[in-house]
Amino acid sequence: MSPPETPPPVRYMDRAPSPPDGPVDLPSLIDGDAPLELDIGFGRGRSFIVRARARESRVIGIEIKAKWSFLVEERRIREGLDNARAFRADARELLERAGPDGCVRRAFVHFPDPWWKKRHTKRMVVTDTFLDTLARLIGPGGELYVQTDVEERADAYEALMVEHPAFEPRRLDDNPWAKSNREVRADEDGLPVYRILAGRL
Ligand SMILES: C[S@@+](CC[C@H](N)C(=O)[O-])C[C@H]1O[C@@H](n2cnc3c(N)ncnc32)[C@H](O)[C@@H]1O
Repeated sequence: MSPPETPPPVRYMDRAPSPPDGPVDLPSLIDGDAPLELDIGFGRGRSFIVRARARESRVIGIEIKAKWSFLVEERRIREGLDNARAFRADARELLERAGPDGCVRRAFVHFPDPWWKKRHTKRMVVTDTFLDTLARLIGPGGELYVQTDVEERADAYEALMVEHPAFEPRRLDDNPWAKSNREVRADEDGLPVYRILAGRL
């Protein structure tokens, strides 16, 4: 008897869920009229799935890594969470061409920018340019929630938001929504998490 064949490796890049090309109408991506939320860089997807299970909103997840976007979207489909969709994209590029202005109620950015080398600066997600994009997409009265376990990063994000005319940031002691994978790890390890909630003025 010949040995069982090893299955071919999964090519996540080929199977990752792609967003539409060109201008993207965010509300039309998910049926219904519940408020729109974004989970930017959801990684292994805990925050995205838990938020979708709450059934309070339509949740659009954007993750640059093909593997995580594919696996999290598969799980979302398996769980029948038709109020959410996960996409593989660079959130900076996708949201730049997304609209209409003011369509988003809340954006979550959990533990972004895990890079320290100078040459990686161009990978940073939470920058003044990205805040401009979010300020355009989040309607007045909406919210931007950013959290990190790196104190200096939290201070830098908060300073950017203080300077930005569209946002009014404050610190939170707890995450009132859904914990991300990294947040659960930080809690288990007893590490502090720095949380910023910025109201869209
Ligand atoms: C430190 S991980 C945090 C993952 C998850 N949010 C959590 O808290 O467990 C940062 C995530 O952001 C993703 N990411 C980085 N740059 C991105 C970009 N430009 N667009 C979308 N996702 C991005 C990374 O692939 C990674 O999954």
